[in-house]
Amino acid sequence: MHLPSSSTREIPKTDIIPKHVAIIMDGNGRWAKERFMPRVAGHKRGVETVRAAIKACIERGISYLTLFAFSSENWRRPAEEISFLMQLFITVLEQEVVKLHENGIRFKVIGDLSKFEPKIIEFISNGEKMTAANTRLTLTIAANYGGRWDIMQAVRKMLVQHPNLKDNFEEEDLIQYLSINYAPEPDLFIRTGGEQRISNFLLWHLAYTELYFTDTLWPDFSASTLDLAIQSYQQRERRFGRTSEQLRTSKTINKMRKISPKKNSINITHFT
Ligand code: IPE
Ligand code: IPE
Ligand code: MG
Repeated sequence: MHLPSSSTREIPKTDIIPKHVAIIMDGNGRWAKERFMPRVAGHKRGVETVRAAIKACIERGISYLTLFAFSSENWRRPAEEISFLMQLFITVLEQEVVKLHENGIRFKVIGDLSKFEPKIIEFISNGEKMTAANTRLTLTIAANYGGRWDIMQAVRKMLVQHPNLKDNFEEEDLIQYLSINYAPEPDLFIRTGGEQRISNFLLWHLAYTELYFTDTLWPDFSASTLDLAIQSYQQRERRFGRTSEQLRTSKTINKMRKISPKKNSINITHFT
């Protein structure tokens, strides 16, 4: 199995285009309220935005898109809103997963699925199986997801499989049990809707992610909002604990390597 990487153990390779973008899609309710519509109209509209976001990510060469659709705390909402969201989830699973497959997209869901009705669990599992070999984009939907739940379930699973680790274990032992163990840590986190918080999203994985907050409400999010986030990302200096001076030195060394490549050497940066 391919081992997931950890930004606190090894400095990750970075690029001007983020490889993994994780988004908290917030502001659907307010978008609807501004239009004197029921909150759920905002959720419905939000699904269209998801389609646009997927397309924009593919066009920009992003490999992983992770979307927070329903948090472990969203069960605290009014029953009618929850039931609308569940129905919407079923409709989307029924209608969209085939389209994802046709477009070469791998579909994944992370979160505590045991709380969903069997029909939803079956749709998810079929969709994941059908799209498993696709490589154009990995789309992960976080549903009944909580960052704390993820860490807890990972520790539990690890200890069930390796009871001997109870006295001492390393990051490497644990991270393979985190639910998103197939993706690199997000390079760029975006939250729409104006709030500047993580709301129990990918707590472990956001350790060194660049954070971007926008007032744009999720139904109004577009390719140009994504571009603003990417532009902001491109201005960040990702130090991973090092100093600016160290970064400049390693950049100079890399530049020199590019100017005078060894004879017959292959520039692996072109092979991604
Ligand atoms: C995000 O939009 C979608 C979900 C949490 C399901 P909200 O429903 O939180 O919208 P606001 O924040 O109330 O505007
Ligand atoms: C976070 O949004 C969860 C999702 C977008 C799915 P919330 O609207 O639930 O977050 P809080 O309650 O404002 O922190
Ligand atoms: Mg909200």
